[in-house]
Amino acid sequence: TTVVADTGDIEAIRRFQPTDATTNPSLILQAAQQEGRRQRLGEIARQATDIDDALDAVAVEIGSEISALVPGYVSTEVSARLSFDTEASLARARALIDRYQRHGVDPSRILIKLASTWEGIRAAQVLEREGIHCNLTLMFGVDQARACADAGVTLVSPFVGRILDWHKSREPEADFEGDRDPGVQSVKRIYEHFKGHGYETIVMGASFRNSGEIKALAGCDRLTISPALLGELAESHGHLARRLSPMDAETRAPEPQDEAE
Ligand code: E4P
Repeated sequence: TTVVADTGDIEAIRRFQPTDATTNPSLILQAAQQEGRRQRLGEIARQATDIDDALDAVAVEIGSEISALVPGYVSTEVSARLSFDTEASLARARALIDRYQRHGVDPSRILIKLASTWEGIRAAQVLEREGIHCNLTLMFGVDQARACADAGVTLVSPFVGRILDWHKSREPEADFEGDRDPGVQSVKRIYEHFKGHGYETIVMGASFRNSGEIKALAGCDRLTISPALLGELAESHGHLARRLSPMDAETRAPEPQDEAE
């Protein structure tokens, strides 16, 4: 399992040394408010032409810093406000890639994060044909995942925690530990479906609420994890990838970092 940090916090990335990093607008906002960054990013935002331009400028500034620290992919999200507008999503995605190129970042290392709506998936299909890699997020089941894989997207981010949140709100007393977690079950179904059907799209579990969910999904291609949970896992289990047993090692192509271990 490739460990991905779900954060824009540079210090956390330095500390946990993940292979990839993922961000979303809330994580960018948190990172932009960190001491030492606020003033510079404020100036960048003030030079922007409108709010979308300001958000993109700040996201790419932070994404570029992150890309210098991680060897793999950096995900930058197109505003969820555009999730039902294919053309607007395409324009923002291309603008983000353009901006990364102006920062000297290799665009093949950037994943444009889009919602797994019908419109988002259509946008991803066009972008992938143009050579722009996509990470399809806000994913809650196999049907969405299959549509993304059929559209040729590079990576999908099926959610765990938001599925658990919903079930917990309905059944607050139920036992949703480990494999009984409906979010974990959803990601496993997607992973097994993809491997069983030979899809090349990478499966990256996302939106974790506790370390039990992460352990239950060890073996998935990638997992994107908040610094708080990375810290918890590092404390109790040492190196994440080395300690956790894969859920289906037989069907999984070895990752380069697995071979190095
Ligand atoms: C990653 O793709 C998501 O943006 C992130 O994991 C969502 O997590 P949340 O459900 O805690 O907001």
